[in-house]
Amino acid sequence: MDTSRDKVQKKPVRLIAAACRGMGIGKDGKLPWHLPSEFQYFLNTITQVSKPGKMNLLVWGKLCWYSNPETMFPVANNLHVVLSKTLNTVPDHAHFLCQNFETAILLAVRPPLADLIETIWVVGGTQVYKEALKHPWCDLIYLTDVMADFDCDVFFPEFDRRLFKEQERFPGVPSKIQEENGIKYRFQVFKKETADAV
Ligand SMILES: NC(=O)c1ccc[n+]([C@@H]2O[C@H](COP(=O)([O-])OP(=O)(O)OC[C@H]3O[C@@H](n4cnc5c(N)ncnc54)[C@H](OP(=O)(O)O)[C@@H]3O)[C@@H](O)[C@H]2O)c1
Repeated sequence: MDTSRDKVQKKPVRLIAAACRGMGIGKDGKLPWHLPSEFQYFLNTITQVSKPGKMNLLVWGKLCWYSNPETMFPVANNLHVVLSKTLNTVPDHAHFLCQNFETAILLAVRPPLADLIETIWVVGGTQVYKEALKHPWCDLIYLTDVMADFDCDVFFPEFDRRLFKEQERFPGVPSKIQEENGIKYRFQVFKKETADAV
């Protein structure tokens, strides 16, 4: 991929997650909280495209994929790629199965999908986030700050907050603190400004 990177259509690689104090994101294969409006914000964000007919590619770790209820699917404007080295067939409702992160990126930037895909959304879990953070096209992290403590067994990886700067305001992202089921949270966006960002 390294030598061919300049010949392909670069796409923004973006992370989206919600993390509590201590950066926990999951427990026993599920979300540790029930925040329907926060989940709706996730759906609104990943389904945004600039014009009809365009799509986004969602990259899922296997456990993360299976942790979602069937009722979530289909998701508008989205194609889904699940990462696994052990699965042999594409999971129900998904479109692609890839053995590694780089192969998933290649799907989005080469024919037949290159003209269709706008954004590559990385939706977890930990290992997939880690790889996305290192990718040169990674420009934004949408990270909801769930302002409470939860018992978690999966965590959002550490990232360089000097490289990814928190934005005071970001288009389409409410800046006020939200509250749901007695839990406060706020939407954050961290932006990387480097030559490689798309
Ligand atoms: N709060 C949030 O925003 C948020 C977001 C996402 C997930 N979560 C939570 O996080 C938990 C799931 O995340 P997780 O980190 O435990 O698991 P995960 O990343 O969803 O799944 C791990 C599995 O995915 C496959 N995989 C991951 N990265 C891969 C790669 N680069 N190449 C090939 N295969 C790869 C491997 O499957 P094989 O073993 O088959 O190879 C690996 O065992 C759940 O509790 C979920 O609710 C929370």
